[in-house]
Amino acid sequence: MEPIEKATVLVTGASKGIGLSIAEAFAAHGHDLVLIARGEKALQRVADRIEAESGVEVRVISGDLTEAGVPQKLYKQLEQSGKPIDILVNNAGVGMSGLFLEGDYSKLSSMLQLNMLALTQLTHLFLPQMLNRKRGRILNVGSLVSYFTGGPNWAAYVASKHYVRALSTGLSKELKGSGVAVTLLSPGATATDFVKSADTKDMLAYQVPIGPSPEQIAKLAYHACQTGKKSVIPGVFNKILAFMGELHPRNIAFEVFGFLSNKKGSQ
Ligand SMILES: NC(=O)c1ccc[n+]([C@@H]2O[C@H](COP(=O)([O-])OP(=O)(O)OC[C@H]3O[C@@H](n4cnc5c(N)ncnc54)[C@H](OP(=O)(O)O)[C@@H]3O)[C@@H](O)[C@H]2O)c1
Repeated sequence: MEPIEKATVLVTGASKGIGLSIAEAFAAHGHDLVLIARGEKALQRVADRIEAESGVEVRVISGDLTEAGVPQKLYKQLEQSGKPIDILVNNAGVGMSGLFLEGDYSKLSSMLQLNMLALTQLTHLFLPQMLNRKRGRILNVGSLVSYFTGGPNWAAYVASKHYVRALSTGLSKELKGSGVAVTLLSPGATATDFVKSADTKDMLAYQVPIGPSPEQIAKLAYHACQTGKKSVIPGVFNKILAFMGELHPRNIAFEVFGFLSNKKGSQ
């Protein structure tokens, strides 16, 4: 597909990590941005810097996407501005590691709300406009973990990313020929604040920092999204792992992934 020129790009979870790098990649190509996250000050600092560096227009809307009604409110605010969203980047997501029953249920429920339902609702809200204009892209940030049948030590997080992968793949097929494309981005272990918030630093998968940086991931994601590629897995090692995950018998890959999901000191 031909890249969309001078797009308005909505990026969720844009104040840091992979989302920030994706926002910067779009800004570097001259696209205007709408940035979403909870922390308003951090978001405003990011917006001021990007505007100064790239000369694009950056709007900031702070909000917690797990709260009921926030995605609709966001959609209405943007609809009134008369500047349609051409590219939706569903990046905001959180992780939670540890044994399923040891995790706090409200934290788990909020993770599922953000990783799956907020992403789904934003897609449902913004897609009709894109289809009407036959111009649009949706970039969903999933994870390499979705290439493995399940993940001990972060079972619900892995399941939430399976959902993102399945939704993206199915929707991508439905939208064929519509002028709107869905791209699934599946990063592997990446050095961001996710490591602290999801408590993954002791996991074997996070011990070897050989994966691409958020900036490298963002560059690949930008091109994949603009050209309407269905899927992108950044990094050679991650591609090999994803390929392994798809091999039969899949229970061998499951055991390997289970090993990589182990925390130091645990059995
Ligand atoms: N890092 C990894 O190893 C890795 C690997 C595979 C996939 N991923 C995926 O990549 C995506 C980005 O992760 P990251 O590593 O960049 O994490 P990060 O550095 O922790 O950034 C998360 C971003 O999401 C925002 N956010 C969190 N909760 C939110 C909420 N309820 N409502 C709105 N915004 C919220 C955060 O800002 P506020 O806290 O201010 O809201 C922040 O901007 C996630 O979907 C994650 O699952 C990460």
